[in-house]
Formats: sequence, structure tokens, C-alpha cells
Amino acid sequence: MLSRRLEKLTSILEVAKAMTVQTDLDALLALILLEAKQVVDADRCTIYVLDPDSDTLWSRLAQGLETREIRLPLGQGIAGTVALHNQVVNIADAYQDDRFDRAVDEVTGYRTGSILAAPMRGTRGDVVGVIQALNRLDERPFDAEDEELLMALGGQAASAIQNAMLHEAIEVLFESFIRASVTAIEARDPVTSGHSERVARLSVALAEAVNRAESGPYAEVRFSPQDLRELRYAALLHDFGKVGVPEAVLVKENKLQPWQIEQLRLRFALARAGLERDHYRRRAEIREAGRAAEAPPDEGERDLRAQLDLLDQSWRFIERCNRPELRQEEDTCERLRQIGGLQVPAEQGMEPLLTEREIELLSIPRGSLAADERQEMEHHVVHTFRYLRSIPWTKNLCRIPEIAHAHHERLDGNGYPQALRGDQIPLGSRIMAIADIYDALTAHDRPYKPAMSHQAAIGVLAEEAARGLIDADLLVLFIGSITE
Ligand SMILES: [Fe+2]
Ligand SMILES: [Fe+2]
Repeated sequence: MLSRRLEKLTSILEVAKAMTVQTDLDALLALILLEAKQVVDADRCTIYVLDPDSDTLWSRLAQGLETREIRLPLGQGIAGTVALHNQVVNIADAYQDDRFDRAVDEVTGYRTGSILAAPMRGTRGDVVGVIQALNRLDERPFDAEDEELLMALGGQAASAIQNAMLHEAIEVLFESFIRASVTAIEARDPVTSGHSERVARLSVALAEAVNRAESGPYAEVRFSPQDLRELRYAALLHDFGKVGVPEAVLVKENKLQPWQIEQLRLRFALARAGLERDHYRRRAEIREAGRAAEAPPDEGERDLRAQLDLLDQSWRFIERCNRPELRQEEDTCERLRQIGGLQVPAEQGMEPLLTEREIELLSIPRGSLAADERQEMEHHVVHTFRYLRSIPWTKNLCRIPEIAHAHHERLDGNGYPQALRGDQIPLGSRIMAIADIYDALTAHDRPYKPAMSHQAAIGVLAEEAARGLIDADLLVLFIGSITE
């Protein structure tokens, strides 16, 4: 008898050890339930956890029933009574006790006989929850020894539950902090809103596809739940560094900023007015001097027309060049230089129509950013890395800065900022690169850029894989993960 008791106490201590390392609340509750059943030889057990904010007990697991959440007000039913009075309740026959709610048996078709319900007391003696055991297997009522054993188990379980709940609360806090950071990035650039969340979703889906891979180079690679979480956080925060990119670069829509094109428009208007003014002034001078025969008015008129037409054509050309979707032709630069070389009337005498910087900006071959602006934009990865590195991540999240840092690296070493190659790029970053490109192509984010279809985007990615920029094996899994 004594050895059996010792055996059970030893088993409680063994389980207690396992409990302290389990931070997943559901897994922990399952562990406690299993042990509780064995310790008091019960047919069924239920654990109720106290929610002090609402003064209710909740249970996520009920053996023999489906997994669902039951809520019970403090003081109600057997478990509610135990929690309220912080005392064990031991009942030989439930149907003889008023506190027992027969409705549960009616719903489940189970027949409750004996009940033993013990408070789970935290280190300060406060109630953390209740363990309830039903029907001792030998059909005898639960005895004093069972009470003692269940209390002992409850004591160990209480600290583990508190620990797991604290862990869960920290995770919730952390998750909301990350969401707040994502909101901060997307508030600066509303057109890309939802990008981080979508990249995170696509990245995790691809990592899960890696987990399912049975052949190929990723057949042996497995992401644990923690690895997946690490990847998700890294993906949510991958573009956070954009908070460090100047607004004018971050949301630049055209090659010239709105104020630059406005300035240019005014310069054209001024030039136009100047040409007309000079022409009429000249004509008046000629008329006054009585030398009209020297310069026929028609000729002057034709000259003026030609100059004004040239200005209008140049302006239309500049407006076209300003748009980022326009792929520059070879002679664009040449023509811009010609326009830039035109000397036109300005506030202070004659001036060239375009400045060097305007010619440079309008000659941007692709997109809206000049080389220096592109560099500032690309610098967002460095900002991301610096920001993420300053956070004291726990051990299982410690690769977040490194993964996010490498999301613009390409396998051939032509990525940035470190020009890493092949395997030097962390797997998480190679996954994220595919998700990032796919979302950038398919998102309805820029007014001037129509979203690409899924097929077209996959075509672009396939081309990049063929050129050795992104991981072709991952791309195959990615396509599978998206069409599933
Ligand atoms: Fe990025
Ligand atoms: Fe991105």
C-alpha cells in the first residue's frame, strides 16, 4: 500500500518536471489530465482554470467529449464550489448532491457516480483552477489518500499553468507589439498596406510545404513550430526599416516629385510668355523704326509658332518621360539633352530649359527612383536589421534579424545589402524572397501599376529562378503551396 503511494508521488514529481518545461497551455493541460486520471484511478478527469478577470472557470478539455470551451461561474456546480472555497469536495454519489448538475450527463449520456474535485493552489495558496475526477475505476468512492494525491498534483500543476499562462500573455503582448510596428510601417506608405501580412502568410505556407516535401533537396528539412513562428515574425517585420527611408523617396510615384514637375510647368509657361513678349516687342520696335520691310511680320509669326510648338512638344515628351511605367527608348536621353539645351527666356535673362538633375531624373530607365534614391530605398534592409538587432529576442527567435536582413539577397550574389550567395543566404530569407517578389507583382498597390495575374507572376519568378536569382526548388514548392 505504502509502496503504491510512494510510486504515485514519485510519478507526480516526474510529471511535475515535464510540466515545468511545457509552455504550451493546451499541451500542459493534456499532460495534467493524463496524470490526474492515473494518480486517482479515475475514469474521467476535467481541468478548470480560473479566469480572475471574469470570475469564471473555463475548461478547454473534457475527456470523452469534444474539445470545446466550457465556462462556469465561480461558486456554481462542484468545480465552482471548490474554486470559491478553496477546499476539496469528495462526493460518493453525485446524484445525491444538490451541487451536481445532471444536465451534463443528460447531454453526454455519461453516468457520473463518484466525484473528487481538488483546488489547484498556486505558490501563495490562491486558487489557479480545479481538477475534477469522476468515477473511480474500482467503483469505490474516492478516499483521503486520493484527495491528498490530487492536491499534490494540483499544487504542481498550478505553478506550471501560471507559467504557461504568463508565457501565453507575453506572446500575445509580443504579437501585438509586432502588429503595431507593422501598422507604423504601413501608415507611412499606405499603398503597400497589407504587404507584410501577405508576405508572412505566403512565407509560412511555403515553409509548411517544405515540411511536407518527400523528395528533392528539401525532403530532410523540417521547420518546427518555433521555426515557423520565427519566420512569420521576420516576414512581418522584413520591411520595417522603411520607417528610416525619407518619405519623398518612399512614396515617390513619378520620376520628378510633384513640386519639381510643377516648377518645370511654370518654367515652360514663363518661357512661352517670354518668347511671345520678345516677339511682340521686336515687332513694335521695327514698326516704330519704320523698318517693317526688313522683317516681314509673317516670317516673325512663323518663327514664334515654331518655337512655341517645340516647347509644347517638349512638354508633352517630358510628361511622358515622367511616368515610371514608361520604358526609356535609347534616344530618350539624347532628346532630353536637346530640350535641356534650349535657351529660353527666364526671370533672369536666358536659361537652359532643364537642369542637369531634371535630365538625370527624367532619364531614369525603369521605375521612379534615381540611383541615389534607389540606394536610400535599398537601405531599408539595413535599417530593418539594425532595428531588429536591438531587440533581445529569446533563443528560438534569435535568427529574426538575420533572416529579415537577407530578404533582398539573390543566389547569384547580385542582391543587397551583403551580396551573399547561395547557401550563405538563410533558408528563411530565400523563402521570404519568393513571397516578397510574388506579392509585389500581384498586389493592387500602385495606381499606375496594374496588378499581375497569378500566372504572369509565376512566369516572372520562373524566369528569375532560371537566371539563378531565386531558389528553383523552393519555387516549385511555392507554386504547389499557392494552388493547393
Ligand atoms: Fe524589402
Ligand atoms: Fe517587402
